[in-house]
Amino acid sequence: MCGIVGYVGNKDAIPFLISGLKRLEYRGYDSAGIATLNGGNITVIKAEGKINNLVPLTKTCSGKIGIGHTRWATHGAAKQKNAHPHLSKNGTFAIVHNGIIENCDRLKDFLVERGFTFNSDTDSETIAHLLEYYYDGSVFDAITKAASVLIGSFAIGVLCKHEQKLYAIKKDSPLVVGLSIESNYISSDMQTLLNNTHDFYILDNNEIAVIDDRVTVFDLNGKQIKKSVYHAKNEVKTAEKDGFSYFMLKEIYEQPRAISDTLAELKRKPLPFSTDINDIHIVGCGSAYHAALMGKYFIESICDCRVTADIASEFRYRNPILRPNDLLLAISQSGETADTIGALNLGVGKCNTACIVNVPESTLTRVATPIYTKAGPEVAVATTKGFITQLVNLYAIAAFLLKSKHDERFIELKSEIQNLPTYVTQTLKVGALTQRLGQIIAPHDYAFFIGRGADYAAAKESALKLKEISYIHADCYPAGELKHGTISLIEKGSIVVAIATDEALLDKTVSNIVEVKARGAFVIGISCFDISSVCDEVVRIPKTKFVSPLLATIASQLLAFYTALLRGCDIDKPRNLAKSVTVE
Ligand code: F6R
Repeated sequence: MCGIVGYVGNKDAIPFLISGLKRLEYRGYDSAGIATLNGGNITVIKAEGKINNLVPLTKTCSGKIGIGHTRWATHGAAKQKNAHPHLSKNGTFAIVHNGIIENCDRLKDFLVERGFTFNSDTDSETIAHLLEYYYDGSVFDAITKAASVLIGSFAIGVLCKHEQKLYAIKKDSPLVVGLSIESNYISSDMQTLLNNTHDFYILDNNEIAVIDDRVTVFDLNGKQIKKSVYHAKNEVKTAEKDGFSYFMLKEIYEQPRAISDTLAELKRKPLPFSTDINDIHIVGCGSAYHAALMGKYFIESICDCRVTADIASEFRYRNPILRPNDLLLAISQSGETADTIGALNLGVGKCNTACIVNVPESTLTRVATPIYTKAGPEVAVATTKGFITQLVNLYAIAAFLLKSKHDERFIELKSEIQNLPTYVTQTLKVGALTQRLGQIIAPHDYAFFIGRGADYAAAKESALKLKEISYIHADCYPAGELKHGTISLIEKGSIVVAIATDEALLDKTVSNIVEVKARGAFVIGISCFDISSVCDEVVRIPKTKFVSPLLATIASQLLAFYTALLRGCDIDKPRNLAKSVTVE
């Protein structure tokens, strides 16, 4: 993943580089680093961990040209030696890289045979050495030659001590160039630069930007490309904790507002496809996939239309059958997830395409027409309001399809969607109860989640929330499936969270609860029904016909939060994670 920034202008680069990196920290926080170019000198500073660890070192570094990097480790541990920028052997080049160099082992062998030595375990260091290997006085030529042997994805910022310029190249990792009168910039995303400029060149694959007081873009053959300036319409949005101890808790309690804003947006902008569609294929990763799965269950059951839900990284390599009248719908909070972008690209020109996205003007929104969620900036790495507003859009799609079928359930579904902010506000009242239940879960090493139908998707999302922020292993199964093997793991005191919101499936789920209870499990039910006779504890949520699985995940967000809090975890920035996953 990682985030990169760069600056060329008439001011010291450091303040911009630090603030830019802080804005990009959602892309990884394993280490950070900066290189500045001052006359013919390149100075590099690096620190393990978050950007704040880098700040004290900036005293040793200055210059009006610079590059910066915040890392999510792929190759090599989260150690200072693996932090970017990487210098070439004799220090001529400094580079920052976002992406993965897939042929790095072969390139390393090639370079080592030619006398290069490596100071890090990263794939990225090969880029710095390759540039030096190919350099014969032209930085541009060295970059094109290096690019021709690199396999994988990359957005790279390059400084060379012999030229007072910043170079940037991209292939399959996002990179924009920000343009202003006094300074020019590069960044992995547009949002980071909105305080500085609203004018951008959005680089396409295999384009090289040469940046000083002006910006010129070339293809790999050295032919100049006339880029049009993209003017961003959005303003920079920052988020504060507003008195909450963690962004995650704040974002959980913001959900009624996020839903209202998403509903207002749906009123304002019609859905970007007609009802004349055959199959719907929904793709996403992580929680976005869970939204897709929940959408599959409810759209199929309510609208009698065939829906598939796929993990984007699987979908893109399994040759999916997409027919002209199908709809391929990608879901992504960040709009930058590499696999989701890859999956959606499969549908372009083959079938109808659309995407559900939270971050305005992100990469995915340039692949297909976006249906925006209006969650606002989501800072906590574990998604809450982002996920819930994705579901709101999926319910809206179900309503859209029902209406076109003149189905009488439309009125009921529409009314439940409109009442969602109220239902969610009621659900959030379980805060104190989930806090108490967190004390029961916190000492455990593992937990099981079960549910049927859309509740199974809700249970998957609930298990993920617990895992990622509390580091308790959580396994999720369709309630009827547990007995086909996994039930052997249930013993006295095992935590089982059972989600049961579907009246038609209630008796079946209750039977499955009884099965685990008989083996000594401690069962926490999340339900709109009184299932207290079969559970040890029940978190009651409002009873609705269609939207209760969404409400169940809100209760389990709180359950995960309070469990993680008791375990002393870094809730907003869990270990090993990043908010935006831009590598495959
Ligand atoms: C979990 C979580 C991740 C993301 C996934 C996709 O809390 O946040 O599983 O849902 O990485 O990210 P987006 O939605 O940005 O494509």
